[in-house]
Amino acid sequence: MSPASNFVLGDTRAYSRDDGTPGWEALEAAVGGLEGGHAVAFASGMAGIAAIVDQVSVGGLIVIPDDCYQGVTGLVRAGERRGRWRVRTLSATETAAWVEACGEADLIWLESPSNPLLVVADVDIICAAPRKPGATLAVDNTFATPLNQRPLALGADAVVHSATKSLGGHSDLLAGIVVARDEARLHALRHGRKLAGATPGTLEVFLALRGLRTLALRIERSQRTAHELAERLVTHPAVTTVRYPGLTSHPTHAAAIRQMPAYGSVISFDVRGSADVADAVCRHVTLIQHATSLGAVESTMERRAAVPGQGHLPPTLLRLSVGIESIDDLWRDLDAALRTSQG
Ligand SMILES: Cc1ncc(COP(=O)(O)O)c(C=O)c1O
Repeated sequence: MSPASNFVLGDTRAYSRDDGTPGWEALEAAVGGLEGGHAVAFASGMAGIAAIVDQVSVGGLIVIPDDCYQGVTGLVRAGERRGRWRVRTLSATETAAWVEACGEADLIWLESPSNPLLVVADVDIICAAPRKPGATLAVDNTFATPLNQRPLALGADAVVHSATKSLGGHSDLLAGIVVARDEARLHALRHGRKLAGATPGTLEVFLALRGLRTLALRIERSQRTAHELAERLVTHPAVTTVRYPGLTSHPTHAAAIRQMPAYGSVISFDVRGSADVADAVCRHVTLIQHATSLGAVESTMERRAAVPGQGHLPPTLLRLSVGIESIDDLWRDLDAALRTSQG
């Protein structure tokens, strides 16, 4: 690990933005190994996403799910408004429509499970569909993590992570990773990173590598707790709907059990009552942090419809990212906040 940006000429590196650093390479080797490809590290998840989207030619077609991270929707819609490309949205559950779209689209974007409705797409079926020559099928694997889903093995061209979330795991860095196998695609990603200056910082890479060391421990613990909390929430009198792919009641449970060994650390649920009641739950939790990011050792919760660009969501929907705290402490906190907020 070295913070150097400038290197004595005559060796393999001259300048870090062009040639990388030993730290980036260590992180890329680790995440590439987990995903079964070669990784390119970026300054944030969005920087990696932008590098993929930027490869779409003028007039090309991008297909995205109707429920996905709002930054992706914002990015592709902004390009559409400037006449760069066309955008189509599909529900992640319309598998036949995705399969058909694979024959026409220049970029197929999947996010599974999705943020925040936790819809699990038939990633295996969609990845196996014939694609337009030169097209890219990318999967945002941030919520699944490489422990629960390896899209390249299913036939995806690129996998994306907001390493800010579970890979880093401590809410102390911004970073992104794209993993691919095809050499030309990797070259384009590295070239795009260099031209856009979308490079990760040395400290961020150090922290991401440190976080990765406990990825399996953190995820195994937090998703076991999430599954149990989801089951308890189903019977809570202050909760109307619980969305967690591991629940048999989840609309895409069948796809989840076919493709995933476990279902991640995020739960979305609707609070009985109004948006004000849901806001009150966020104010009343004390162990769970009222915060927007997710995938960390600490549990975080947010009312997602309050976020700009997320107005289509149920106003009472809370997204809970479960950390590694004791399940009994988390349940006490959540149960008390839910009961207090009902007045
Ligand atoms: C699923 C998903 N993908 C991508 C991103 C963007 O990542 P970053 O904030 O690291 O740019 C986020 C951020 O919340 C996310 O939740």
